[in-house]
Amino acid sequence: MRTRAAILREVNTPWSVEEIELDPPKDREVLVKLAASGLCHSDEHVLTGDLAGLVASPPIVGGHEGAGIVQEVGAAVDWLEPGDHVVFGFVPACGRCDSCVVGRSNLCEEAANYPTGLQISDSTARHHTTDGHDLGLMCLLGTFAEHTVVNEASCVKIDQDWPLDKACLLGCGVVTGWGSAVYTADVQPGDYVAVVGAGGLGQNAVQGARMAGARAIAAIDPVEFKREKAMEFGATHTFSSIEDALENSEPVHWNRGYDKVIMTMGVGSAGDLGQAFNLGGKRSRLVVTNLHPTTEVGMEVPAIMMTMFEKQIVGSLFGSANIRKDIPRLMELYLQGELNLDDLVTKTYTLDEINDGYEAMRNGENIRGVILFD
Ligand SMILES: NC(=O)c1ccc[n+]([C@@H]2O[C@H](COP(=O)([O-])OP(=O)(O)OC[C@H]3O[C@@H](n4cnc5c(N)ncnc54)[C@H](O)[C@@H]3O)[C@@H](O)[C@H]2O)c1
Ligand SMILES: [Zn+2]
Ligand SMILES: [Zn+2]
Repeated sequence: MRTRAAILREVNTPWSVEEIELDPPKDREVLVKLAASGLCHSDEHVLTGDLAGLVASPPIVGGHEGAGIVQEVGAAVDWLEPGDHVVFGFVPACGRCDSCVVGRSNLCEEAANYPTGLQISDSTARHHTTDGHDLGLMCLLGTFAEHTVVNEASCVKIDQDWPLDKACLLGCGVVTGWGSAVYTADVQPGDYVAVVGAGGLGQNAVQGARMAGARAIAAIDPVEFKREKAMEFGATHTFSSIEDALENSEPVHWNRGYDKVIMTMGVGSAGDLGQAFNLGGKRSRLVVTNLHPTTEVGMEVPAIMMTMFEKQIVGSLFGSANIRKDIPRLMELYLQGELNLDDLVTKTYTLDEINDGYEAMRNGENIRGVILFD
């Protein structure tokens, strides 16, 4: 069939919205009509080339934070049927690999297919340009498209009366930010927490820290609008930079240092990470959620302080969450009024306006932009 998609044809060029050719789903695959797709910073990393080697090279269909309605399923898919509503996990969860069986589906082995961007089942493409060239998929999804074909492992079935324009956010940013605080940082009641970068993920780290019982939450972001929003999402203090927080956090944590520091900046950098390490106090945990360019190697931290203060540095992928448990759970928390998804979406766009959405991200105007499909 023909559909339309935003394709990155070359690094550092705008998204190109084009007709593409989409093959029908094979055995364990699902054809989905997208309802909504969030504009996460990770696709911006694809555009700038930061993720070279980690995701498929251009041409690639972008987008990994989506939700939609199943149109057709392959012969071996027995738990989804046309009409079902699904959120995609940006990491598949096969349910069978080592990571999945120990309850760490965020580290599912099937993510090893990221660098090709081809289908999990047989390493071939279902997406092609109209002149016959194969297209890779961001995170094996390609949600910047009116329709896509993905493996069943990438799908999480949700209730049909849950709003898809909010549910899409759970395919990446909300679960990743919230889980970075609740699971990876393991925020405890009474903790002092710092969140570095108050964008789409950071605001959810703030919400997660609040729900986990943090005593004080400092949101650090150079953009005033982001700091104001963070106070609405549950921050108790704000700072305009890591340096500002290093100098002025005494009223927050009484000079003890933060217990948990969560990195959710747009682009991670070794220099910022090294500085943020100093925000943490004794037995603090520094959680690296933001993505550093794949070419960056090495970071400088005073290792002696890791020993003397028993400080930890840990990474967090998809908030250390399990999508089949956590996506429905967070959706229910939203419906109960405990989790704020409404104020995350600053502006919505059509697929054709995708470059405006990313320009707004670069200008610090959006917490999250979301593409709505007809
Ligand atoms: N680990 C994962 O599983 C995972 C999943 C999704 C996204 N990510 C990554 O997380 C990061 C955040 O994504 P997002 O969609 O929230 O991005 P975003 O652009 O919405 O937010 C980033 C925020 O960081 C702020 N910022 C920039 N420089 C800063 C600095 N020096 N100090 C403090 N704040 C600064 C920006 O003003 C912005 O508010 C990106 O690197 C993204 O690729 C990681
Ligand atoms: Zn994302
Ligand atoms: Zn798995």
